[in-house]
Amino acid sequence: MDFMKTVLKRRTYRGQFTHKPVSQKDLETIVEAARWSPSPFNVQPWEIITIEKQDTKDKLAKLVLKSMSAQMGDSRFLDDVSKWMSLSKDEWVQRSEGVMIDDHMDIPGFIKDKSKLRPLLKNAKNMSFLGKLGLGKIGASKFVEHIKNAPLIMIIIMNLKRMSPGENRMTWMYMGMGAFVEHILLAAISLNIGTHFINAPLETKKDRVKLRHILSIPDHYEPVCLLRLGYIQGNAGESVRLPSEKILHREKFRPKGNDKS
Ligand SMILES: Cc1cc2nc3c(=O)[nH]c(=O)nc-3n(C[C@H](O)[C@H](O)[C@H](O)COP(=O)(O)O)c2cc1C
Repeated sequence: MDFMKTVLKRRTYRGQFTHKPVSQKDLETIVEAARWSPSPFNVQPWEIITIEKQDTKDKLAKLVLKSMSAQMGDSRFLDDVSKWMSLSKDEWVQRSEGVMIDDHMDIPGFIKDKSKLRPLLKNAKNMSFLGKLGLGKIGASKFVEHIKNAPLIMIIIMNLKRMSPGENRMTWMYMGMGAFVEHILLAAISLNIGTHFINAPLETKKDRVKLRHILSIPDHYEPVCLLRLGYIQGNAGESVRLPSEKILHREKFRPKGNDKS
C-alpha cells in the first residue's frame, strides 16, 4: 500500500473487529516491521506479549473494568479528560484536537441533544462522586467486552536492563518505544488490521503490578501499552488534526497559540 495512504488509513479503531483470528503470517509481518524501528544506540528495548487465550483475556478484562471504574472516580482525571472532549462532530472538526465523547463513553440513547451535557463537562471533576458510587462500571462495559472479544491483544513492554546511554535516557527510551508502536500500527493497517489502545490498566502503578502478575512480567520490564488488534471491515474510523501551520516553526520558535491551561 502507498505510504501516505497507509498513514491516512490508520485510525484508533474502537468498533467490533471481524471474528477472524489474526493470521500467523500477518503477525510475523507486524513483528518484522516493529523490529526494524529506530532506538537510541540501537538498544532495542522492546518486546511484545501476544494474548489469544480466553482465560488471559478475561483476566485483563477484569483489570480494565477495575481501572476504568477507578478513573471515573478520580476527579483530577475527569477534569483533565473533559478539556479534550468534544460533544459533537462539528465541534470536534472545528477544534481539530481531542476526542469525541461518544468514542469514550456510552452515552444513553435518551440523551439526544448532547449539548445538554456541556455543564457536566465543565464541572467534570464533580462527577467523580458517580464513579465513587460505582457507576463507572457502566461506562467501562464496552471496553471490557472489547478485551474479552479481541482476536489478538498485544502488551508492549520495555526492558529497563537495555537502557539507553545519556542524561536524557528515559526520553530516548520512550521515543524508541513510540517508534516501535507506530511501526506496529502502520504495518497492521497495511494488512487491514485495526489497532486500539486500551491503556487504562497501565495508568496506575498498582494496576501495572497486577498486569505484571497476570502475565509474569519481571520487575525490570515496564509495560508501555496495551493494544487490541483484529481485521476490520470498511474504514478504520475518523479523526482530526491541527493544521500543519500550527505545528511547523520555520527557522525559529514563534508562539502559535497552542497552549492549553
Ligand atoms: C500513548 C497513547 C495512548 C492512548 N490511549 C488510548 C486509550 O486508552 N483508549 C483509546 O480509546 N484511545 C487511546 N489512544 C488513541 C488516541 O485517542 C488517538 O490516537 C487520537 O485520538 C487520534 O486519533 P487516531 O489515532 O484515530 O488518529 C491512545 C493513543 C496513544 C498514542
